[in-house]
Amino acid sequence: MPETINVNGQPQTFDGDGDMPLLWYLREKLDLTGTKFGCGMGLCGACTVHLDGQAIRSCLTPVSTAFGRDITTIEGLSEDGSHPLQLAWIRHRVPQCGYCQAGQIMNAASFLATNPSPDRDAVDQAMQGNICRCGTYNRIKAAILDVAGTESEDMA
Ligand code: FES
Ligand code: FES
Repeated sequence: MPETINVNGQPQTFDGDGDMPLLWYLREKLDLTGTKFGCGMGLCGACTVHLDGQAIRSCLTPVSTAFGRDITTIEGLSEDGSHPLQLAWIRHRVPQCGYCQAGQIMNAASFLATNPSPDRDAVDQAMQGNICRCGTYNRIKAAILDVAGTESEDMA
């Protein structure tokens, strides 16, 4: 029997193998290619999306986990790229190649939803699982602290 998954506010039906990684479903079936494949082993965070608002690794999550639940990808974080983190990412000129950045933003958004006023150490801890091969960590941190209002200097 087809199952329903709400993806970015739209109900989608799924009728395949529930063991398929959620990442494949999002990218290959729904063409939501903002979410990236990095390691496939839960180690890099490039594939981070939200499941009922919580950051998860879609490369390790079977699509069956999402049946009847809400998935948000970078495409659904805001309708027009105006989420505070997206605007801060622009202000702080965060991305280099960009490959890791959707996962970084999705992890940061989930983190700030539970801790809206983190200090630098809390940001470090929350973001440590998201790897950036271009080394944009200082600008990522500056953007998150800017949104949090706890620190705003450009640390680039
Ligand atoms: S691709 Fe999922 S954590 Fe690296
Ligand atoms: S911006 Fe290139 S991997 Fe992070």
